[in-house]
Amino acid sequence: MLEYITVIGIFDSGVGGLTVWQHVSDAAPQADLWYLADQANVPYGPRPLDEVRSIVTGVTDRLVLMGASTVVMACHTASAAALEEMRSRHPGIDFVGLEPAIKPATEWTTTGRVGVLATSTTLDGPLYARVVERYAGDVDIVTRPAPELVTMVEAGETDNAVVEDAVVPLIDAGIDALVLGCTHFGFLASEIAAVAGPSVHVIDPAPAVAAQVLRVADLNGSGTRNFETTGDEIAFVHQLERLIR
Ligand code: DGL
Repeated sequence: MLEYITVIGIFDSGVGGLTVWQHVSDAAPQADLWYLADQANVPYGPRPLDEVRSIVTGVTDRLVLMGASTVVMACHTASAAALEEMRSRHPGIDFVGLEPAIKPATEWTTTGRVGVLATSTTLDGPLYARVVERYAGDVDIVTRPAPELVTMVEAGETDNAVVEDAVVPLIDAGIDALVLGCTHFGFLASEIAAVAGPSVHVIDPAPAVAAQVLRVADLNGSGTRNFETTGDEIAFVHQLERLIR
């Protein structure tokens, strides 16, 4: 009899989604995980929503074909462009997506100012607008697109001057909570926190998203870990060696 193996499919434009993958992998050693880095198309951030939606459709279909019963869009930009569409396209699949973590930030702030670092496409999309409308209340949200941080993480570089360029204007605006609105930024969390200073709470969404995956997904498998890239496979192997435990 044909045995159909289901996996938890996790994807991002590149390595950013590994921040979510790591938490899921640590907490669910028996789950079967399939990580897809769409590095032929990284970065998603500067692309229009329609273009990202079309790319994400192909990536999602691929994961469903590979046996994903849960698909984790470990990418704010992909979720902004296509989460609802993919839910309609694959009604039998559980989707977990990412929206900027405005809610915990507004609960944390005492200055009434919250910063969001994200991609332009995330900040321009209707999902972001809905999240702000639902949770911001009286809190001012100060945003800053930071595509250069995505490039830096993909390249495996850390340039503190680039981190400062992205973060200092938000600090100058008086924020005391900073939302990492792009999964790539989790790999720069300590550099970002160092620039932001001790009075700013930096919110990395990866643990909360992983917790949601653990609630909805089938965690009983053989503990397989598969990785795939649409880009350069050798370079991806080196990135994995550097970025995951
Ligand atoms: N890691 C992604 C996000 O959360 C996308 C970065 C990009 O490809 O621009 O938005």
